[in-house]
Amino acid sequence: MNPDASTAIPPELIAALQQADHVVVFTGAGVSAESGIPTFREALTGLWQRFDAEDLATPDAFRRDKELVWGWYEWRRMQVLRAQPNPAHVAIAGLAQLVPRLTVVTQNVDDLHERAGSTEVLHLHGSLHAPRCFACGRAHLLPPGIPEEPEGGRRLSPPSCQHCGGPVRPGVVWFGEALPEEVLDAAFAAAEACDLLLAIGTSGLVHPAARIPWLAKQAGAKVVQVNPTATALDDECTWTLRSAAGAVMPSLLSGLCQPK
Ligand code: APR
Repeated sequence: MNPDASTAIPPELIAALQQADHVVVFTGAGVSAESGIPTFREALTGLWQRFDAEDLATPDAFRRDKELVWGWYEWRRMQVLRAQPNPAHVAIAGLAQLVPRLTVVTQNVDDLHERAGSTEVLHLHGSLHAPRCFACGRAHLLPPGIPEEPEGGRRLSPPSCQHCGGPVRPGVVWFGEALPEEVLDAAFAAAEACDLLLAIGTSGLVHPAARIPWLAKQAGAKVVQVNPTATALDDECTWTLRSAAGAVMPSLLSGLCQPK
């Protein structure tokens, strides 16, 4: 990443945003990077460093070693609870006040968009904050507050379901599992209906989520990317802003607030 990369926003992009009736903001791990949230693979430190991320994120892994998997997700949840939304999350929530409709479609399992004030948020890959029973599927309420966690995390027994006594699992989508159908349908519909899609902090590699910018483009929307490095989306974008989201998004918002 070039730290001097310009965050200048093309005036044509500001004009396109001013004319848009529906904006989709499609986000990935990069939007939370400046809040200090490690990406999925970066979270494999401490106790978990001898594992592959994909070996911890499957139903089989949970069946095999519940304490290991629950401990890893609880450690990640603690990191999110201690983190704060960054200027990119805040600017996205601010943008929603300036356009007729804005839908956030996120691959992230944190709640930083909501904590920044975004209200229409579709979580394609579930949430660290919505665990449910592995046996009966019913939602499980976690106690409020931030539990103490040792550096690097620890193995932890999952709680038992209040209804059936089954083990509680993280509310995220694991490898080999389908994305929540209603959420995916709503995200595809938003992509096909929007005038402009902003893809922020995503490598655009993980399917089916990665179809979303392509669907928007095929339906005639302008696609804008915010990412300091090259991605699979590069050739599809009307504009690419090659810089960190926490710098670009506030600039974009202030550009939009200038008198026309
Ligand atoms: N601002 C904008 N983009 C950033 C920043 C930043 N400050 N820092 C990093 N990035 C970019 C990286 O350049 C990279 O392209 O964020 C992207 C993160 O890519 P991935 O780690 O592949 O994250 P994501 O696209 O969200 O992955 C999708 O894959 O790991 C699984 O299920 C997990 O939901 C996740 C999915």
